[in-house]
Amino acid sequence: MDSKIKIQHLSLAFLLLGMLAFQATSRTIQDASMQERHEEWMARYGKVYEDPQEKEKRLNIFKQNVEYIESSNSAGTKPYKLGINQFADLTNEEFTASRNRFKGHMCPSIERTPSFKYENVTNVPSSVDWRKQGAVTPIKNQGNCGCCWAFSAVAATEGITKLSTGKLISLSEQELVDCDTKGVDQGCEGGLMDDAFKFIIQNNGLTSEANYPYKGVDGTCNANAEANHVATIKGYEDVPANNEQALQKSVASQPISVAIDASGSDFQFYSSGIFTGSCGTELDHGVTAIGYGVSDSTEYWLVKNSWGTEWGEEGYIRMKRNVGAKEGLCGIAMQASYPIA
Ligand SMILES: *[C@@H]1O[C@H](CO)[C@@H](O)[C@H](O)[C@H]1NC(C)=O
Repeated sequence: MDSKIKIQHLSLAFLLLGMLAFQATSRTIQDASMQERHEEWMARYGKVYEDPQEKEKRLNIFKQNVEYIESSNSAGTKPYKLGINQFADLTNEEFTASRNRFKGHMCPSIERTPSFKYENVTNVPSSVDWRKQGAVTPIKNQGNCGCCWAFSAVAATEGITKLSTGKLISLSEQELVDCDTKGVDQGCEGGLMDDAFKFIIQNNGLTSEANYPYKGVDGTCNANAEANHVATIKGYEDVPANNEQALQKSVASQPISVAIDASGSDFQFYSSGIFTGSCGTELDHGVTAIGYGVSDSTEYWLVKNSWGTEWGEEGYIRMKRNVGAKEGLCGIAMQASYPIA
């Protein structure tokens, strides 16, 4: 009798031990596979860490991000998918701090230009994609430098240059980063598209990417390259604020610089589909609206980003258009502007 109870106790103990061991093993397997995935991801994106402590820290962030991305995708409640992209070892705070340097906090002090040349545009097709007209250069990558404002202004300038001269020339962001430093714009520390347009006007033009290649760090202005203009603009205008119809007329006419709130995790890991948020309206990123359209009766803006082709739909994002709020999704209709050739 006694010994039977002992045996029962013993087997219960074994059972418990076994369960614990099983749990531990499955956890180890999960950890190991996450470690393996992190290694594969590191190889894919050429990531190298300073020391084992940093690697451990990044692995933990990677794990949390992967778990978030996978649970968001498997829930299937959003019309867009997230992906384990090159930003998967960064916390959302680190990510937004390093890349999104549109000086949105200065908005109240920004004067909006009163004239709007596209006010009376009536030819507003149901869809537009400026890539099809050859007015958009390939996706670029700003890297670890907060000069989104330069990429946005350059893409809009490349667009209007193509429309006015017939030539698509990749233009220099680095010139803006290095040379446009006397006003608001501060290279990798941030800037405004309108101030980039002002610089291009005052400088009598902008040089090409080939003449003044992108380095992704603040540098001293190369005056010789700066003087070699390949594109000029005469002026710029602001799209009337908080008006997606006015923005549509503008985008139907040329690629448009827009400021958005790109601070959310879903924006960081956006991979495909029509992005619907969540996001606020604290403008912190400059991008370029290069078209719009409708997919399965959802209206969207077609937006060119500057985070390489691994992010989003080959570097682009489709963002929901004509949302209830006047500011547009992520504030896209708040501070749009364009250069005039
Ligand atoms: C739009 O049309 C109105 C009325 O005809 C006119 O007063 C205004 O100047 C036009 N705006 C532009 C930008 O052409």
